[in-house]
Amino acid sequence: MPVRLVDLTVDDIDTWLAPALDIYVAAMGYPRGTQAHRAPLWTDHTRRPGWQAVGAVETDTVDGSDRLVAIGYGYRGAPDQWWNQQLCAGLRLAGFTAPQITEITRDYFELTELHVDPARQGAGLGQRVLVRLLRDRLESSVLLSTPEVARDDNRAWRLYRRLGFDDLLRHFSFTGDPRPFAVLGRRLPMRADH
Ligand SMILES: CC(C)(COP(=O)(O)OP(=O)(O)OC[C@H]1O[C@@H](n2cnc3c(N)ncnc32)[C@H](O)[C@@H]1OP(=O)(O)O)[C@@H](O)C(=O)NCCC(=O)NCCS
Repeated sequence: MPVRLVDLTVDDIDTWLAPALDIYVAAMGYPRGTQAHRAPLWTDHTRRPGWQAVGAVETDTVDGSDRLVAIGYGYRGAPDQWWNQQLCAGLRLAGFTAPQITEITRDYFELTELHVDPARQGAGLGQRVLVRLLRDRLESSVLLSTPEVARDDNRAWRLYRRLGFDDLLRHFSFTGDPRPFAVLGRRLPMRADH
């Protein structure tokens, strides 16, 4: 079925937020009900400077109805954000100097969420959403965190590596979450051939 990319806006959040959270919960394998906890946070994120979201919409060839099948969003990183503060603390712990931390965190886009409906994964959709999201960003880099997996070998890791993301932090623990994460990043803009 044909899939097209669309810019998701704050004005139509009532249309896309619920299906986007369903995709997130299914893609991450989180328990049902997680949607209700995340909805206020995702809504709050839309108010952050530089917030931008891209969706992938599949059109049913029989009845013409549209269905959201992927979502990606992020915003401009800033010192008053929890993730930024965690990152700075992690960089300090890892031995980065204050000037290095300033340089890394001065001007970046945080890729906050990227998820594809499990039934549509593995066909290049995540890459399309991510490339579209980063296409016109003016920040000098993009940073993200992703759970550590054995041998860096899952779809998320392969996608980030393919698009040139490098390690910034490995086996990093965010406060209140026992899982190890990696923080990855790359310079922007991205070459047009991705
Ligand atoms: C991570 C995720 C967003 C990637 O999206 P995706 O659409 O599944 O993956 P990609 O866009 O990278 O698709 C590429 C795969 O499709 C294949 N493919 C087919 N046509 C393609 C095309 N035109 N372009 C790129 N890849 C294509 C590739 O071979 C590749 O296979 P591989 O992943 O086995 O190496 C998605 O798998 C997902 O939601 N995972 C669960 C949630 C998650 O981990 N989110 C990220 C948290 S940080």
